Amino acid sequence: MNIKTGHSAGLSDKAKYKVPFGTVSITDDAAKLIHKAIASKWLTRGKYVQEFEERFAALFGVKEAVAVSSGTDADALACAVLYDFGAKRGDEIIVPALSFVATGNAVLQAGFIPVFVDVDRETLGIDPAQIEAAITPRTRGIMPVHLMGKPAAMDEIVGIARKHKLRVIEDAAEAHGAEYKGRKIGSLGDMAAFSLYAAHIITTIEGGVVITDNPQMADALRSLRNHGIVGKFEFRRIGFSAKMNELEAAVGIGNIKIFHQILEKRRRNLLYLMDKFKPFEEYFIVLKEEPHEKIGPHAFSIILKEDVPFTKDEFVTYIENAGIDSRNLFYSIPTQCPSYAFLGKKPGDFPEAEYCSDNGTHIGIHQDIELKDLDYVAGVVRDFLKSKG
Ligand SMILES: Cc1ncc(COP(=O)(O)O)c(C=O)c1O
Repeated sequence: MNIKTGHSAGLSDKAKYKVPFGTVSITDDAAKLIHKAIASKWLTRGKYVQEFEERFAALFGVKEAVAVSSGTDADALACAVLYDFGAKRGDEIIVPALSFVATGNAVLQAGFIPVFVDVDRETLGIDPAQIEAAITPRTRGIMPVHLMGKPAAMDEIVGIARKHKLRVIEDAAEAHGAEYKGRKIGSLGDMAAFSLYAAHIITTIEGGVVITDNPQMADALRSLRNHGIVGKFEFRRIGFSAKMNELEAAVGIGNIKIFHQILEKRRRNLLYLMDKFKPFEEYFIVLKEEPHEKIGPHAFSIILKEDVPFTKDEFVTYIENAGIDSRNLFYSIPTQCPSYAFLGKKPGDFPEAEYCSDNGTHIGIHQDIELKDLDYVAGVVRDFLKSKG
């Protein structure tokens, strides 16, 4: 199945990788809008950003979408909105220990302290059974991450949040198009933050967007992305400089137009590779899709099971040498990222997150990957296992 775009750009060294990690689809429509924007000489936030926001909100069935300059800014601005709702600097937001480091960084950049909770290695999501123990009088929000596009346990998380009067900000950076119990991921909390970086399903190359049904939150977001502006040139919040420009929005509009095609192809790839990994069950944990959910496929995670007769380094070196681009399955942010040492956590505090990081990797399943590429991946894994007896 081919997706008709004007141009696809990989994120990996094409000479080195047969199966690259990510791709960017730039449609002919987007290219036309880019030319129009250049001809109009209006390149900062303007009508295309507005159109992108309207289309994004409509796609997710929410009232408001506020485009920003990255997924990290989307997370940080969504956190900073909580100052309009009674939060104070130095208050706490609960986040999963395992995520791309931006999740923790954004909480800190917004002036909050991230309080980490361990995950479940089978789902990669925050373990809801451990959330209540992490709540203190200073907790203001919970930010679950739908890692690899697999929905977090939203019923439990939203239930705990309502009980303790906390806000829920979904970090949906990797979960465009995911569904939970028939509802779209991104519409289940108070706000949801998406990354639009190149490897993601809808991309603006660099970019992010926050969606919400709450107009007061959307107003705060629009102010926060522009230095805290209110009115014409008055600055009343500690804001960010986090605006999207017209060229990025044009790429995003093009992507929204082919969103369902991209999603369908990525889902086909995900389900195909899940099936191909069934014979390797003894060796690897890969995500499962439960009947109540649809994964919005970001990438394909592979975690070595305990006691397999090989190391992660051996496995990753083998697949990389065979031209399969991979990324580490992130880190336990508080115990494996040196910059978080100030929180005083020690190795062993987040055993599941640390296990995923020590034993996990992830590879591409994006829209420019064909079934023959996935057959190749499965063949490489089979050969590796054979070589290990
Ligand atoms: C879970 C998660 N949160 C936040 C981000 C940050 O997004 P960006 O790279 O657009 O700043 C990413 C990026 O991939 C991510 O995976």
